[in-house]
Amino acid sequence: MRVAMIGTGYVGLVSGACFADFGHEVTCVDKDTGKIAALGRGEVPIYEPGLTAMVAANARAGRLKFTGDLAGAVKNAEAVFIAVGTPSRRGDGHADLSFVYDAAREIAAALDGFTVVITKSTVPVGTGDEVERIVREARPDADVAVVSNPEFLREGAAIRDFKHPDRIVIGTVDERARELMRELYRPLYLNRAPILFTERRTAELTKYAANAFLATKITFINEIADLAEKVGADVQEIARGIGLDNRIGEKFLHAGPGYGGSCFPKDTVALLKTGQDYDAPLRVVEAVVAVNDARKRAMARKVSAALGGELRGKTVAVLGLTFKPNTDDMREAPSIPLITALQDMGAAVRAYDPEGMQQAKAHVSNVTFCDDAYACAQGASALVIVTEWEQFRALDFERLKAAMARPLLVDLRNIYAPEEVRRAGFAYESVGRGKK
Ligand SMILES: NC(=O)c1ccc[n+]([C@@H]2O[C@H](COP(=O)([O-])OP(=O)(O)OC[C@H]3O[C@@H](n4cnc5c(N)ncnc54)[C@H](O)[C@@H]3O)[C@@H](O)[C@H]2O)c1
Repeated sequence: MRVAMIGTGYVGLVSGACFADFGHEVTCVDKDTGKIAALGRGEVPIYEPGLTAMVAANARAGRLKFTGDLAGAVKNAEAVFIAVGTPSRRGDGHADLSFVYDAAREIAAALDGFTVVITKSTVPVGTGDEVERIVREARPDADVAVVSNPEFLREGAAIRDFKHPDRIVIGTVDERARELMRELYRPLYLNRAPILFTERRTAELTKYAANAFLATKITFINEIADLAEKVGADVQEIARGIGLDNRIGEKFLHAGPGYGGSCFPKDTVALLKTGQDYDAPLRVVEAVVAVNDARKRAMARKVSAALGGELRGKTVAVLGLTFKPNTDDMREAPSIPLITALQDMGAAVRAYDPEGMQQAKAHVSNVTFCDDAYACAQGASALVIVTEWEQFRALDFERLKAAMARPLLVDLRNIYAPEEVRRAGFAYESVGRGKK
């Protein structure tokens, strides 16, 4: 099948490459000419495990192309995906749909023959109706169906998630569009991935409900962590104790510095706005957003407290900057407010991240970026693990001790066992593990 993917970012590029890998003919479109030129040279502009090889193989096979020519790609396609960004709108937190609507207008102008236009971007309920209105107004003659197909992939495991999804949600009542979507996802269907056909508005809201629920789970365990710390209990064991209950499940129960990333922060806030607009306030999600916001600077206070309440004149080493491991994405990473708060308290900050330092430079200033964890620890009075990259799981404590001004590890991801770190001669702070 001939597919056009409008927007070649984290979602568009992964989805486009995976559809090509299924055997479809995919043209990825982006208005960022630098990105398209780089992809044309075989350079993948983001870090996502396995993506470079998959892009190269499918480009070589002639199934995956990159272009800035939206009209040409759409004219030729049976399925046109909208995978552009939907960031928070400045000022009010609503999803900024201008990229989606601009894309819809450009797509409408180029439609030729029966075409299914599919919104893969995360968009508030009712956006599909507006996309359809835009398309039909611009092209009353067009034979088109507008479908919602929200994407659930996680950065860092995006290819695996796309190829082995827990479910595929498809929102349309148009039978021809359902048939085309079935065909598009046939390889996954054969692998028994559940495909949920539903109405468009339901599909749109399903995506926000999923993200809000996951953000709630994280925030819940973070608050339990705070309580555990005060009463001398261990949140890791509590998470296991509740997670083994099938009704709860063990995923997303890792206490830490609060959720971040390109989705949860903006999607929870956008969902609140939708709730307000429809006079159906979402009190639980309101609390989640507020609690998570407050948590970020609280992590800096934790570091300060571990250093006796005084950071002025001290150096803090930060390990991990991206919002999670295995991505270079810095959008809304908890490291950003943490670093800013540490600097506000007077600390000098050194930092190291295996993939995110280039992007981090746009988000923080006055940080000394280092080549590895040990260079980062040089002269530091505290080493803070913010992102749990694999390479931070077996640090050489002797080397660290030799490099640091004072051996203190603040492990915001609970990746070490307290006894192990203390045995190595370090003071140790983590999240939600009360001192025994
Ligand atoms: N990143 C994730 O993990 C993830 C997961 C699920 C869903 N989503 C959703 O998918 C959408 C895309 O997210 P992303 O992280 O891939 O964004 P991104 O910012 O990485 O990519 C968006 C791309 O769209 C391009 N673009 C914008 N308008 C365009 C136009 N008119 N024509 C052509 N290209 C255009 C931009 O240049 C950019 O390259 C968002 O709605 C997001 O919420 C993201």
